[in-house]
Amino acid sequence: MTAAAHPLFEAEGLGVTFPGRGKPVDALRDVCLTWAEGEVLGLVGASGSGKSTLGRTLMGLQRPSGGSLRFRGEPLTGPRDRDFRRRVQMIFQDPYQSLNPRRTVGAQVLEGLDVQGIGAPGEERTALAVAAMERCGLAPVDRYWHRYPRQLSGGQRQRVVIAAAVALGPEALICDEPVSALDVSIRSQVLGLLAELRRDEGIGLLFITHDVGLAWALCDRVAVLHLGELVEYGDVEQVLGAPRHPYTRELLAAVPAPRG
Ligand SMILES: Nc1ncnc2c1ncn2[C@@H]1O[C@H](COP(=O)(O)OP(=O)(O)O)[C@@H](O)[C@H]1O
Ligand SMILES: [Mg+2]
Repeated sequence: MTAAAHPLFEAEGLGVTFPGRGKPVDALRDVCLTWAEGEVLGLVGASGSGKSTLGRTLMGLQRPSGGSLRFRGEPLTGPRDRDFRRRVQMIFQDPYQSLNPRRTVGAQVLEGLDVQGIGAPGEERTALAVAAMERCGLAPVDRYWHRYPRQLSGGQRQRVVIAAAVALGPEALICDEPVSALDVSIRSQVLGLLAELRRDEGIGLLFITHDVGLAWALCDRVAVLHLGELVEYGDVEQVLGAPRHPYTRELLAAVPAPRG
């Protein structure tokens, strides 16, 4: 997979500055990167390095203070439109951030389809929601449809969030520490689902993680953020297999052993 293929997102000199107490904080400084169609791009770095800020800025949840962004070659400025919100979805660490505790699973998977006007209301739309839930391992669907988020395990809740995203037929998922809050035993299942979505549906993933080992296992390319700056960026084998930057080596030192 080469970045040149068909870019989903392109960032050029991207900066985000927060006012902060006393002096401003540069959460991102002059970030240039490309996330290609169907690619799993890892975004790694320690806590506070700016990973979430970058994900939120791509989503339009955070306004950049400098630089430019493109999506599918088109400049991306201001609030994102409905079409963008169908094509690009965000998965947070905590599924409760995306789920409404007072609505059933079925209602929440249907909600995005309603908002986007996908499929005829009624049977057709319900069938799309059911198919997405099956695709995401929530089968038999009857068992989950009428439940509330609190009645599910953490892994099941994250599957509901992913199913609600997948139902809309997205091209890109921005996954911000999607398994960090899950039990270790559940993590690989949810990661397996994300990998399948990329393989089978060609959905590009921005995989944000502080866990370099996870990035190594899942990503095609990886970008390393350190205090808001991109210190290393390239094929995963190159960046994590033969790191050039001391900070990348430091991150890797915390990983028990490389895969393979
Ligand atoms: N809304 C905000 N207001 C002020 N500072 C923020 C805000 N969000 C993030 N920051 C600061 O920006 C930096 C990067 O944060 P973040 O993107 O959350 O890092 P990460 O996701 O890598 O842990 C940190 O110094 C953080 O304190
Ligand atoms: Mg974060």
